[in-house]
Amino acid sequence: MQYNIRHLKIKDWDMAMQLAWDTFLVYEAPEYEPEGLQNFYNFVKGDELRNMFALGEYRAWGAFDDDDVIVGILGIRKYWHISLLFVESRLHHQGIATRLLNRAFKEAADEGINTLTVFSSPYAVEFYHRIGFNDTDHEKTTDGIRYTPMSIELF
Ligand SMILES: CC(C)(COP(=O)(O)OP(=O)(O)OC[C@H]1O[C@@H](n2cnc3c(N)ncnc32)[C@H](O)[C@@H]1OP(=O)(O)O)[C@@H](O)C(=O)NCCC(=O)NCCS
Repeated sequence: MQYNIRHLKIKDWDMAMQLAWDTFLVYEAPEYEPEGLQNFYNFVKGDELRNMFALGEYRAWGAFDDDDVIVGILGIRKYWHISLLFVESRLHHQGIATRLLNRAFKEAADEGINTLTVFSSPYAVEFYHRIGFNDTDHEKTTDGIRYTPMSIELF
């Protein structure tokens, strides 16, 4: 199936954050301390991020199936830091995350942005390396969350 990549709309928000939470529980939660789980839950389910998105201060794209059900979510906060990237488990390795990132890279490049950053989960380190990200520091743990800081230069 060819998934449609588009900007998230506010009506998509709850469905998108549910996908993020469900996927997080499978692939990331085992690496988190309890404090980190709570922090991530508050991040995706709380009002702060939703309000930022509604105000245009948080960018998000989704991959949608033919029934307009979300199967992938990419969220980027100011300034061009990837803070959410999740693809539904049964659809991994079909290029969906790559397509989401490529859409964001194009929009960034169109705005003259050269550098994007991410704090990669342990699970996604190889994926980001494959895309072209480089580590900018060693793995860290903050607020119960393990991550590796990375960046990519677009041009
Ligand atoms: C990481 C994630 C977003 C990748 O999504 P995806 O749609 O499966 O990725 P793609 O199909 O675009 O992958 C492109 C290439 O990256 C590499 N790759 C993808 N997932 C990988 C993994 N888990 N381990 C190692 N390499 C991986 C592969 O080389 C893949 O190409 P291939 O399938 O032809 O071998 C997805 O596994 C996911 O949702 N993980 C759980 C959440 C997570 O950790 N998100 C990152 C938060 S920072």
